[in-house]
Amino acid sequence: MGGDKIEVKHVYKSFGSLEVLRDLSLSIREGEFLCIVGPSGCGKTTLLRIMAGLEKPTSGEVLIDRKPPDPSIHRIGFVFQFSNLFPWRTVWENVKLGLEIRKTPSDEVIKKMIELVGLRGFENYYPHKLSGGMVKRVAIARALAVDPDILLMDEPFSDLDAQTTWIMHKELLEIHEKLRKTTVFVTHGVEEALFLGDRVAVLTKRPATVKKVIDVDLPKPRNKLSPEFIKYREEIIEMLREEVPEI
Ligand SMILES: Nc1ncnc2c1ncn2[C@@H]1O[C@H](COP(=O)(O)OP(=O)(O)O)[C@@H](O)[C@H]1O
Ligand SMILES: [Mg+2]
Repeated sequence: MGGDKIEVKHVYKSFGSLEVLRDLSLSIREGEFLCIVGPSGCGKTTLLRIMAGLEKPTSGEVLIDRKPPDPSIHRIGFVFQFSNLFPWRTVWENVKLGLEIRKTPSDEVIKKMIELVGLRGFENYYPHKLSGGMVKRVAIARALAVDPDILLMDEPFSDLDAQTTWIMHKELLEIHEKLRKTTVFVTHGVEEALFLGDRVAVLTKRPATVKKVIDVDLPKPRNKLSPEFIKYREEIIEMLREEVPEI
């Protein structure tokens, strides 16, 4: 792993009188899988959108490879909470989308991505014929097809059932193992964050700032029932309770 891939420096963000982020700083290392957990409504999506350059901070800055996010320099893979595949496009055509926008369509790359996420044989399916997990695989393949500098994921599995979610976690870790993309994964799920993250950044309630960054010093794949895992889990839940007592 190299140096810092993404630097979030003293970011403040308000929407009118609503202060969402307050003096938030965080560094994400090259190749790491960083999870961000925080109470719902604290500003996680806003932070991710600022990292992607989709939203401007009110003050402070984000740097990717030491430059502000810029679509002419950076390629950013984004997997949204709701996968928003185009229903009139097949799996193949959905994966192709980002490449088309960049005017670099390549059948070879599309094929490779579809294989990576285990959807070989489903190229000509339309989204409504796919299971929830398969839809997520398409969204991941689409985000990775442009060979992004960074991969941003916003609670991508929150609408899946528990069993499918765990399958997706395993697959996502395997993909990260293979490609080593710098990944920022936002969730409100503590177990999910601890299963996936090399580090977990815990945010405060709104206006959000970083409460603590935890190094998860457990080999992957992790055992969610191990005493070490449960200890990390309790530590984070305790921190979130300080923010939102009703958790
Ligand atoms: N474009 C916007 N305009 C006004 N308010 C917004 C906008 N985007 C988000 N918010 C508000 O900012 C707060 C944080 O939202 P969000 O970043 O989506 O939180 P989270 O993803 O942690 O649930 C919420 O109160 C939300 O209503
Ligand atoms: Mg959100």
